[in-house]
Amino acid sequence: MIIPFNKVYFTGNEEKYLLESLYSGRHCGNHDFCKKVIALMREKHGFNETFLVPSGTAALEMGAVLANIGPGDEVILPSFTFSSTVNAVVLFGAVPVFCEVEPETMNIDATKIEALITPKTKMILPIDYAGLSCDIDTIMDIANRHNLIVMQDCAQSYGSYYKGKPCGTQAHIATFSFHETKNYNSGEGGALVVNVPEWEARAHFLQEKGTDRTLVLNGVKSKYHWVDKGSSYLLSDILAAMLLAQLEAEDKMKSLRSNITKAYIELLTPWQEKGKLTFRKVPEHAEINHHAFWVVIDTIEHQQQFMAKLRDDHNIAAYIGYQPLHSAPKGLEFGYKIEDLPITQYQADRIVRLPFYTELGEIGLDYTVNAISQVLQEIYE
Ligand SMILES: Cc1ncc(COP(=O)(O)O)c(C=O)c1O
Repeated sequence: MIIPFNKVYFTGNEEKYLLESLYSGRHCGNHDFCKKVIALMREKHGFNETFLVPSGTAALEMGAVLANIGPGDEVILPSFTFSSTVNAVVLFGAVPVFCEVEPETMNIDATKIEALITPKTKMILPIDYAGLSCDIDTIMDIANRHNLIVMQDCAQSYGSYYKGKPCGTQAHIATFSFHETKNYNSGEGGALVVNVPEWEARAHFLQEKGTDRTLVLNGVKSKYHWVDKGSSYLLSDILAAMLLAQLEAEDKMKSLRSNITKAYIELLTPWQEKGKLTFRKVPEHAEINHHAFWVVIDTIEHQQQFMAKLRDDHNIAAYIGYQPLHSAPKGLEFGYKIEDLPITQYQADRIVRLPFYTELGEIGLDYTVNAISQVLQEIYE
């Protein structure tokens, strides 16, 4: 059997919706399928003003423009994230200020944020690693006390909850990804959710190349004008058709994916108790969307052996996590040293992400679990 790291899942409606969109003759952004997706998101998760955009990366960039991020601003974010998170603010001249992660969740350690705030701090930019919400209540409390903007990078957490509230509904701005590697896939795709009512109108201008075209579409005026900065932050209706099919099957897909989380926890708990590895702790107040599963192996040598044996002896793909940004070539240019964030670096050097995709919840899970179990025995016994 071959177990890939990720695999696209078809819900059954993709082809039908794609053809409908194709023959509708309306392929650009904000047409029927976009409207249906946004309506579904609002109904299912109570999202405020929502914009479908070309990618999670584009959502972050649009959010940075909306927050007026500019030269000299400082933005606090975890070093353990994807390059898109940091690029969204660096592109506009901001300076990244990297914060440590909590080893139990690999999310930003909210208790360490306040010490990093300076008069230049404009934004806190946490992510929800592997689909688990960051401690957004504590982060919002810090932001409110210091008058900062919070943009939550929910690229991996569509369908997760924090204290009963859907991820994406609490920060000032939230961004999602619907990239092929995410739970719900439109090939490339993303969304931006704006939770500050006064920012909504401007977000429409930014999405439409800095024009007030939406006002024309809504019948408010007859000609549109250049009114602001902006870009083309629109998802094609064709991709929204694909996304609709995926999001309509959210509950079924989540349930299949939960089988994987359960099986991995059962398998790995005894190894954690023996001190050989650690894996994510989901706090009481959080509900996960079963995006991914990571384990931190006790030594770098064992981590390498673990991945090699899975690959060579069992045809199973398991990968490392993010390479921390502070110790990456571009991070070093900002004056960081590898030892500046020891917890992040230690964890990132030993982390392994196990294969995780919806179909694995049905086919191949026993094979994968048995193989991992065998490899762990070979390494440790
Ligand atoms: C935390 C995080 N932010 C942003 C992105 C970028 O999303 P996209 O690939 O849709 O541009 C990713 C992609 O994996 C991610 O993991």
